[in-house]
Amino acid sequence: MPTQVVILAAGQGKRMFSELPKVLHIIAGRPMLGHVIATARTIAIETTPIVIYGHQGERVREAFVREDVHWVEQREQLGTGHALQQALPAIDDQASVLVLSGDVPLISVATLKKLIETTPKGAVGMLTANLSNPAGYGRIKRVNDKVTGIVEEKDASDTERTITEVNAGIYYAPAKYLKQWLPQLKNANAQGEYYLTDIIACAVSENIDVNTIEPMRIDEISGVNNKMQQARLERSYHLQYADNLMQQGVTILDPARVDFRGDVQVGSDVTIDVNVIFEGKVVIGNDCVIGPNTILRDVILGDGVEVRANSYIEGADIGKNCVVGPFARIRPGTKLDANAHIGNFVEVKNSTIGDSSKVNHLSYIGDSTIGKRVNVGAGTITCNYDGASKHRTEIGDDVHIGSDTQLVAPVKIGAGATIGAGSTVTKDVSSQSLVLTHRLEQRSVKEWKRPEKLKE
Ligand code: UD1
Ligand code: CA
Repeated sequence: MPTQVVILAAGQGKRMFSELPKVLHIIAGRPMLGHVIATARTIAIETTPIVIYGHQGERVREAFVREDVHWVEQREQLGTGHALQQALPAIDDQASVLVLSGDVPLISVATLKKLIETTPKGAVGMLTANLSNPAGYGRIKRVNDKVTGIVEEKDASDTERTITEVNAGIYYAPAKYLKQWLPQLKNANAQGEYYLTDIIACAVSENIDVNTIEPMRIDEISGVNNKMQQARLERSYHLQYADNLMQQGVTILDPARVDFRGDVQVGSDVTIDVNVIFEGKVVIGNDCVIGPNTILRDVILGDGVEVRANSYIEGADIGKNCVVGPFARIRPGTKLDANAHIGNFVEVKNSTIGDSSKVNHLSYIGDSTIGKRVNVGAGTITCNYDGASKHRTEIGDDVHIGSDTQLVAPVKIGAGATIGAGSTVTKDVSSQSLVLTHRLEQRSVKEWKRPEKLKE
């Protein structure tokens, strides 16, 4: 029988002191529940994950409208045991249930696979870990090494609180046992809740084996109940991501100063400087250098690209051997062909820049198609917006645009044309011609004396 994943996500998360439901708080650019749903899908391919929702439930569902999830409501948050119970009618008696927690976001597929594989048929499995500071977690009680139950911190005696083995809140159990045990739970405890943890005592009383395994990394089982825990997991996520890239040969100057809020694919001999943020889907070719203080969101970089300091590149396809920055802003819909250079204080939007063309200083290029070997002088502006609609600028190969030029779109500049500095181009320009506009004759006043400051 297939594994059915159930994710508990109905709690409010009082300790976050936030209007946002706890499972929507973000780790690495994605709601915690999103991480858990993605993991659930990898673990159990044949079944749709069940998510128990409740507190501000509509907000939680809205955040995942595009996900294939079986939503089950827990109207009142009466505890984790009561939460899981809501899912049982939807689960086949023959299934095995893997319970995950929406506030334990970094649990890995490898650890869950190990839990499933090492738990014998008809036994119950759970994840535990030994923590130097176990505060806040349920403690695992053992007699002669055998698990006898779990006690919540709020119900624990002083001696029980010294136990360092904690419950991760992740369980693997046959559905038929859960259907037997959950209706029997009592809420006679410090929090007046139906605790899912009590199923372990149920198993023990029926002589059913309890298999415990530990995760490979402690962070995998770390729960997020407050902002400090959220921040710690956030950093630990990026460090782990950086480790994976470094294992593939990527040079990361300081793994503590790079954020991976999406998926990054990296070729060989790539160097990532400090304070770099990756978002969405980023693909980096071989021999690229990503300079400091840069943001790359949904970007493809060809081989040999150099992104210089303080650049922000979004929704762009950067061809091989391009140089971008320092201080460049590349906006969605931009394609740079090979060897193009975009320099400082240049904004490019929804434009194609041809092979070996350069826009090196202080320019705005929007809704444009620029050919090969074009040089765009400093301070050039494509005036693409007339207040109502956007218009295109088309520039042929080998065009030279002088500094401080306005190209009022729609406008076409033929191949090989030259635009004199300071021009305002409002009409199409034929190829190989020179355009000069609005040029006042230069006037000189000889022996001109500058005004001098009056003495006091
Ligand atoms: C729970 C465990 C504790 C364990 C810890 C691990 C219980 C009683 N305790 O404690 O042993 O060490 O997790 O992180 O299970 N939820 C619902 N409905 C509810 C209550 C909670 O869906 O009525 C959900 C929450 O949204 C959360 C998860 O269940 O995702 C765990 O609830 P939480 O209140 O955070 O439990 P802990 O106190 O952390
Ligand atoms: Ca928790």
